[in-house]
Amino acid sequence: MDDTDEREQPPALNLPYLLDMLDQMRSAGSLEEVRHFAALLQEQLAASGSTPSASGLLLLNDLTQIAEARTLERACYYTERLIRSVTEVKTTPINDINLNQWKAYDHIWTDSLWVMDRRDSSGVHAADYWGNFVPQIPHQMMLRYTKRGEWVLDTFAGSGTTLIEGQRLGRHTIGVELQAEVAEQARQRVAAEPNPHGVVWDVVVGDSTTVDFPSLLRPYGQQSVQLVVMHPPYFDIIKFSADGRDLANARSLDDFLAKMGMVVERVATVLDRGRYLVLVIGDKYVEGEWVPLGFLTMQEVQRRGFALKSIVVKNFDTTTAKRTQKELWRYRALVGGFYLFKHEYVFIFRKRL
Ligand SMILES: C[S@@+](CC[C@H](N)C(=O)[O-])C[C@H]1O[C@@H](n2cnc3c(N)ncnc32)[C@H](O)[C@@H]1O
Repeated sequence: MDDTDEREQPPALNLPYLLDMLDQMRSAGSLEEVRHFAALLQEQLAASGSTPSASGLLLLNDLTQIAEARTLERACYYTERLIRSVTEVKTTPINDINLNQWKAYDHIWTDSLWVMDRRDSSGVHAADYWGNFVPQIPHQMMLRYTKRGEWVLDTFAGSGTTLIEGQRLGRHTIGVELQAEVAEQARQRVAAEPNPHGVVWDVVVGDSTTVDFPSLLRPYGQQSVQLVVMHPPYFDIIKFSADGRDLANARSLDDFLAKMGMVVERVATVLDRGRYLVLVIGDKYVEGEWVPLGFLTMQEVQRRGFALKSIVVKNFDTTTAKRTQKELWRYRALVGGFYLFKHEYVFIFRKRL
């Protein structure tokens, strides 16, 4: 079991000892005998005094399940499963999650509603680039959809949030950003963050609707990436620059969608089949009408060889907004017959095989 706790460990967390005890439980002739061994291990875990570590807690849970089994056959089945969970690693081709210890991954989210009250502001992460996403988004996506040492492409790099997270998690990253100045600031930010896994990263100045993605990977001997992250401008909500190539300056909604389609077509050429593309985007409200920008963009991706796997709704519930402003908006909503929204979508697609 992976245990980073530095306290002296109870014997039950010593792997050879634990396996020996579990082996005796597996070959026990009666439920009483199984319960005897389970109780012994539980006592040892409890006797360690201080709060048990994460793996100690999981073990306690499993031992309780074994001790409460109603038949010897069931108790042996749970014991067998516990032995497998500490001896075998079972992963899928898309991440490093050990499915034999899936209960130990509480930090990986699987629900589709993410209500947050704070952004991760650790290390070099900061909220100073208007329009950057919360680091928790690329963090969760890389843990779910990449293995350590794989490559991630962010087509709208902005302040480099994805690259910072990649560096922390041991994933190589390439970011493309239209504005040279913003790209330079991102480079400085990423460089200021420790690189414990020695990953490769780069922020390239370019227009993602026309950039040649294979040529960005070539210098690293790489032909493809294993995850694409796209966090484009939400059409014209934030004016990022005066550049005509900026998606925030698209001539119309249709033009914005066509350009997003172009980006998807280009990244699809370097994304491995069966791997994932993540689109983070929100909706718009114009002249009394809700414009479902998120869903319209989602369809552009679906039309280009991608299967929609999930839609996550992310809301940021801050208490810092000014009360009078909040009340004014609430009044407007009541008068105008609409709902106030701050939520965004994280659309998750898989490139078809
Ligand atoms: C929503 S922000 C991305 C923020 C980023 N996720 C972060 O955390 O900092 C969109 C970014 O896309 C850039 N951009 C706009 N049009 C682009 C294009 N055609 N190619 C590349 N980048 C573009 C903008 O300059 C802006 O920095």
